[in-house]
Amino acid sequence: MKKLLAVFMLVALPVLSLATEQGGPELESVDIDVSDRIALQDGARTFVNYCMGCHSAKFQRYERVADDLGIPHELMLDKLVFTGAKIGDHMLTGMQPADAKTWFGAAPPDLTLVARVRGTDWLYGYLRSFYEDPARPWGVNNKVFPNVGMPNVLVGLQGRQVIGCKQVQVVEDDKKQYDPLTGVPLTHEACDQLTIVPKTGTLTEEQFDEKVKNLVTFLAYSANPVKLQHQRIGTYVLLYLAVLFIFAYLLKREYWKDVH
Ligand code: HEC
Repeated sequence: MKKLLAVFMLVALPVLSLATEQGGPELESVDIDVSDRIALQDGARTFVNYCMGCHSAKFQRYERVADDLGIPHELMLDKLVFTGAKIGDHMLTGMQPADAKTWFGAAPPDLTLVARVRGTDWLYGYLRSFYEDPARPWGVNNKVFPNVGMPNVLVGLQGRQVIGCKQVQVVEDDKKQYDPLTGVPLTHEACDQLTIVPKTGTLTEEQFDEKVKNLVTFLAYSANPVKLQHQRIGTYVLLYLAVLFIFAYLLKREYWKDVH
């Protein structure tokens, strides 16, 4: 019976992972570095300003974030705590879940662990994929999370985004294709493409992508705060082993001196 189960799992696993891969649009992969303090601080600022009105990070304390990110407690309380919370408090939203349910049709989930559940590529894609859709209650839809209940809270930064058909460059084997004779990019028409309406947001497209990347970096840290610590401990362990190696080597030479 056990064997049968094992065989089943071996057969089913690739099929299951294929199923998750096929669902939804392709996600751009994003390089997240949770040891980048500047990114983390910027992400934390965006998180408390734009997300905590609705979402909590209830497994996280302000104090821990301040210490991990190198933010003095006073500065943290002054600039990043808006709910009148104390430094040792958990990062809770002021919104009542029942109100949220009425307003959005779904309660905004706690975001402490969302980076573990969804993955950073998904979050990076989701936060950049809101587009205008008059059929939806908030006038926006999302390409990565169709019919989502969340409004596009970053629209002021990103600008209005619309969906439609446009010419995009042909890509084969991850390489952009050009006409071999003229060097002109080869294009084809593709639909379901997102375009930002120029000059409707305060950030350029690159700046906005960076902002979202920093926010996702903060969420990734928040989902696994000990990772920062592990990296630090890892360095010490390697240093310790390197020093130990030198002594072990010297000792070995000492012992074997008379044998040779
Ligand atoms: C005005 C309220 C509001 C604000 C502000 C808001 N959200 Fe949301 N968010 C929601 C609601 C409501 C949902 C649930 C949507 C649903 O399930 O349809 C949601 C869902 C999400 C999800 C999907 C979670 C999941 O796994 O299903 C993520 C991720 C998310 N929000 C991130 C953010 C981030 C990051 C910010 C700040 C930039 C933010 N939200 C700001 C209301 C809000």
